[in-house]
Amino acid sequence: MSHDPLANKQQAWSALFSEPMSELVQRYTASVGFDQRLWRADIEGSLAHAEMLAAQGVIGVADLAEIRRGMATITNEIESGQFQWKLELEDVHLNIEARLTALVGDAGKRLHTGRSRNDQVATDVRLWLRGEIDRIAVLLTAMQRALVELAAKHTETVMPGYTHMQVAQPVSFAHHLLAYVEMFSRDAERLADVRRRTNRLPLGAAALAGTSYPLDRERVAKTLGFDGICQNSLDAVSDRDFALEFSAAASICMVHVSRLAEEIVLWMSQNFGFIDLADRYCTGSSIMPQKRNPDVAELARGKSGRVVGHLMALLTLMKGQPLTYNKDNQEDKEPLFDTVDTLADTLRIMAEMVGGIEVKKDAMERAALKGYATATDLADYLVKKGLPFRSAHEVVAHAVKTAITRGLDLAQLPLAELQQFDARIGDDVFAVLTLRGSMDARQGVGGTAPVQVRAQIERHRARLGA
Ligand code: ARG
Repeated sequence: MSHDPLANKQQAWSALFSEPMSELVQRYTASVGFDQRLWRADIEGSLAHAEMLAAQGVIGVADLAEIRRGMATITNEIESGQFQWKLELEDVHLNIEARLTALVGDAGKRLHTGRSRNDQVATDVRLWLRGEIDRIAVLLTAMQRALVELAAKHTETVMPGYTHMQVAQPVSFAHHLLAYVEMFSRDAERLADVRRRTNRLPLGAAALAGTSYPLDRERVAKTLGFDGICQNSLDAVSDRDFALEFSAAASICMVHVSRLAEEIVLWMSQNFGFIDLADRYCTGSSIMPQKRNPDVAELARGKSGRVVGHLMALLTLMKGQPLTYNKDNQEDKEPLFDTVDTLADTLRIMAEMVGGIEVKKDAMERAALKGYATATDLADYLVKKGLPFRSAHEVVAHAVKTAITRGLDLAQLPLAELQQFDARIGDDVFAVLTLRGSMDARQGVGGTAPVQVRAQIERHRARLGA
């Protein structure tokens, strides 16, 4: 045994330990069950570290060659599922290092020179998360594209715009969809910003105080594609801001998803009947044969809860932690991993589902006609004829009240009747009272007029490279 110091953890630490760890403590403290997911980042980080150690003359060139050879074997073993992960070796780092030493001997034992698992794990998580951020950025682009392309077909499709869930003013379905594009584009911006602060190298901080070996941290940063290095060793090993920030950005994004999902659920309900979803995104009921439920949208809405929950877990994990590394930090991984998985899967499935939305234009238009959605347009019409806005508001309130009593829309009231509310009303009023007239009138930047919305679609297409 003594020729293999990493045969078990106590031996990896020191001869100081005189009794073995209980099975419960082993299981309780081990992270290899979940952190093995970091293996690729761990090997990449180790190779960059070893290469720098060799360049600095801390280890020999022959050691570096052996480390590379061993890591290549380990990579193959893990990829092919043959690698034996051992709980008694606690985590991904010790598992890989122990295997390396078994494969290449002393060179493997030299790898950890000038390094600690504290700066190692911080580096691994950042490397891994950086890759995931890039993957999610692609999914966010796809999500936006799906919305933009659906919108492109519906710049003239009228639906009721709501405030307080009451019909407010007519908007195009395209305009409504583009509101979500704005949200997801901000999410993409936020992620890019998180990436900048994630992409800094902790390695070289060692356990907490730095190291006496002549490390070239800039070189390691460059090899690993980091934009810079963490400037304080204590902060380097204890900082998990990048995880918190990512988790916050993911939560905001999932909140956006949940709003879209909620609207999809509403729109598909019989009471709205605005859209239909492809069967493959719905499920039936075991008791009610007529049911087609929008399960995917409901789950996406529900899964926002767990992502927000993970943010709370991570914030609570870091709150009050004294400097520097504490084992608490091992608890950062599962919430972070699940956040990445949930967000990525949700974006992928929502983008697909949005692409297949079938729009029922007639139902949308009927709904828009129901709620006196052009009342504001009548007020604006009177303002243009010289009435102060507050007075116009009052006049229209009376008109709407009458229309409600008569069970008619504003545009269905005869001209003579409309003129009783204000003599300034002429027969040019009917163009204003149509849904289309109302939309067309809102041509300013950000408005719902088809000409404006088409310009927005082109802006998004150019931005998204579509
Ligand atoms: N498994 C540990 C983690 O995930 C690695 C770092 C452990 N360092 C230590 N000194 N115990 O945080």
